Parts: sequence; C-alpha cells; structure tokens
Amino acid sequence: MPFPLEPSAEELEAQTRAVADFVLAQLRGLEAQPSFDTDGAEALRATFDEPVPEQPTPLPALLARLEPAVAKSFNTAGPGYLAYIPGGGVYAAALADFVACATNRYVGVAQAAPALAQIEETAASWLCRLMGLPAGSRGILTTGGSLSTLAAVATARHARLGEDFQDGVLYFSEETHYCVPKAARLAGFPRRGLRVLPTDSRLRLEPAALEAAIREDRARGLRPFLVVANVGTTNTGAVDPLPQILALAREHGLWLHADAAYGGFFRLTPGGEQLLRGVEACDSITLDPHKGLFLPYGLGALLVRDGERLADVHREGASYVQDVTRSGSLGFADLTPELSRDFRGLRLWLPLVLHGLAAFREQLEEKLALARWAHRELAGDARFELVDEPQLSVVAFRLRAPADEADRLGPLLLERVNGRKRVFLSSTKLRGRYTLRICVLSFRTHADRVRDAVEALRQEARALLG
Ligand SMILES: Cc1ncc(COP(=O)(O)O)c(C=O)c1O
Repeated sequence: MPFPLEPSAEELEAQTRAVADFVLAQLRGLEAQPSFDTDGAEALRATFDEPVPEQPTPLPALLARLEPAVAKSFNTAGPGYLAYIPGGGVYAAALADFVACATNRYVGVAQAAPALAQIEETAASWLCRLMGLPAGSRGILTTGGSLSTLAAVATARHARLGEDFQDGVLYFSEETHYCVPKAARLAGFPRRGLRVLPTDSRLRLEPAALEAAIREDRARGLRPFLVVANVGTTNTGAVDPLPQILALAREHGLWLHADAAYGGFFRLTPGGEQLLRGVEACDSITLDPHKGLFLPYGLGALLVRDGERLADVHREGASYVQDVTRSGSLGFADLTPELSRDFRGLRLWLPLVLHGLAAFREQLEEKLALARWAHRELAGDARFELVDEPQLSVVAFRLRAPADEADRLGPLLLERVNGRKRVFLSSTKLRGRYTLRICVLSFRTHADRVRDAVEALRQEARALLG
C-alpha cells in the first residue's frame, strides 16, 4: 500500500458500509436501549487511556471497541432522556457532517467556496427571521450556547464601552445559566462588575430590582452596559419579562441580550410569538439548535440585530489573505473568533431543507403539550408539590413533605426512578430546596415515555412516602 492514508476505492466503500451499518444498528436499538447504563464504564474508560499506536488497526475491530463505549453512558439520544436540556440528535445532521467532512471545503472565507458559504449564511439568516430580527441582522454559528454567549458579551462590550471597560457592569438573574458569568470573566470583566438579580415567584428576573441596580451603579460612577434576559431558564424554563426589561435597557442605554439557548425555538409554535414576546427586539440572541432544533451536540448560534457590531469587534486584517478579501470582507472569519473550522452550516441547512420547518414546529408543539400533561398529572397527585406551571417544556417538582424530609427523600426518588432505566431525569436546587425536573425536548420523546416517567414517579413516591 504506497499511500496508506488514501485507501483504495474498494476499501473506502467497505469502510463506509461498515460505519453505516454500525450507525444504523445504533439507531435501530435506541427505543429498546436503557435510558442510562454506566455499570463498568470506569473500567472501560481505562482501556482507552493508552499510548498512540504505531501500527494500524482494522476498522471492524475499532468499531467493536466503540460499541460498548457508546453503550456505557447516559443515553442522550434516546427517547427516555428527560434530564438537563436534551435534543436527541436528528440523523440528517450526521449526514450533513459526513458530507461536510468528506468534501472538506473551506467556508470561513466566502471566496473559497461561495455557494457553500452562502448555504451557511442563508441558514444563519433563517434563524434571524425565525426570531423576528430585521434585515441588517447577522447570525453566526458556533459550537454551542456558551461560545455564542462569549461572542455576545464581547460584542456588547465593544459596542457600548469601547476599549476601556473595567468600570462596565452587566446584569442577569440568579436563574441565569452560568455560561453568562463565565463569558463575562473571559471577556475581561472582574467579578465586581457582575450583578446577580433576584427573581419573582415564577423565577423570572424582577425588573424593579434591575432598575434599582442600574441607578445605584450609575450613581457610583460605574457604566451599566449589558443585561442578559432568560428566554427559558435551564432550571425551570422561566421566561423573563422581556418587554419591561427592554424598556429599561432602552432608557438606560444598555445592550439587551437574550439567552434563548433552550427556549428560543418555541417561537416557531402557534402562540410562540406571544409567549416569547420581546425577543424580536433584543440586540442579540443566543440560540442552540442542538437543543430546540434537536440537532446533535455541537451547534449554537449568536444572532445580532445590527450585524455590523459583530464585525466591529472581530475584524482584523493580514496581507496573506489579500487574495480572498472581497470588498473588504473575508466572510464569517470577520464575524467570529474562528478562522479555520468545520462547515457547520450544512448540519443546520440540510435537516431544515430535508424535513421542512413544519416537522420541527410540530415536534416543539408536542413537547410543550407533553410537559403540560406531566404537570397536570403530578399536580393531581397529593405526594407531589409542583414549583410552577411549565412556562415552556420543563416540569419542576418536589415530594410533598416537610422541607428537610423532602430534601432528604428527593435524591432517593431520583435514584429509584432513574434506576428503572426507562427514563432519565435530573435534579437542581431552587431557593436552596432540592427539586426534580423533567425536561421534554428530545424529538424522540413522545407520550409513552412521559407517561412512563409519571408512572415511575408515582409508584416510587408511594414507596417512599407511603
Ligand atoms: C439556558 C441555557 N443557556 C446556555 C446554555 C449553554 O449552552 P451550551 O451547553 O450549548 O454551551 C445552556 C445549556 O444547557 C442553557 O440551558
């Protein structure tokens, strides 16, 4: 074999079939697989802690090693995954990634593959339109919500504070995802510039507290510049009161960023525009297609109302790109921190075109309905105390018992329900109280699994409380 990295046509075909068979077997098994299976996972992990091999290994042997490594995990692709924020991983995105990697074209610079770069640009602009942003807005695709948020904070900082920004202050609620303070620190803000604001009885940011904090900081000579509003918190799916926050942001000259990583795509559902009213007026929006569009992990987006603001903070120049700098712009490389990267636009574009938007809309509608159903069922059982009506597709609840007892029994309930391996739930703390949560978001989760979750909760709660 003169060039071992370039297999023959026959070998390529055999390899491609072997991988396709492996993947299709995985997908066929999803319905029956346990919702999690980590018995022996540590020992298995240790077998992968190994030196790089000098000699080749046949692909079938490699796939045989991968199979148990995939199995010994939380089954984040399966219908029973109701923990954290699921998505499932629409298969069409895997096909897109396969095409993108195998053809290996470069889209960071528009001139290098104009039509492919346009596919990514178009897909990103679809996201802007879906969120109601006007012409002139721009979207960039990132690897996830955390990186979108980092780009958002840097963009807002540059737009509102310029280069000397140590006295800048940013505001968000106690329910805001921790990627926001993380982004703020990475963007150069000291912790003293971060204001964590209280929430109301439905865990939404209190506009009065925001206003008081802005006025106080102003009076101290600081520069309030950014407020982050939640469009679906991770804990409970709470949506902050965007219209009131927007009015305050406008009055005080703050940039308003929406963390819609989880909740944003519910705008596609009937009534969604009303539910997320105000998101269309934000200065920037974090969206995670790997959550609400059910794509595999690794696709986030940042949408910016005035797209030029992205270029202001990211654009740099160099003589070695002079051949491909069209009308002063490189393309995406001028709007993001990245230069060389994957063609991730295809994993958004291909599923949307292949399935059509209506399919996604229907799925999202079903998830809202399933969460409301689970809420009603648990609320009708005296053993449960529900935190709130679901604002989106998260149901948060506790055992109904004195606080100490409920906090002690909650983890046992979670363990027993998850131990049945039909569904997989996760927990959190709300105002210091142990709280379980069901997040219905995977496109593979339908009524049967949510019924199983509710039934398991009822039976195990009965066993614990009597
Ligand atoms: C509301 C919210 N914002 C931001 C993030 C961070 O997104 P990512 O995990 O894609 O970095 C998450 C992740 O779960 C989230 O739920």
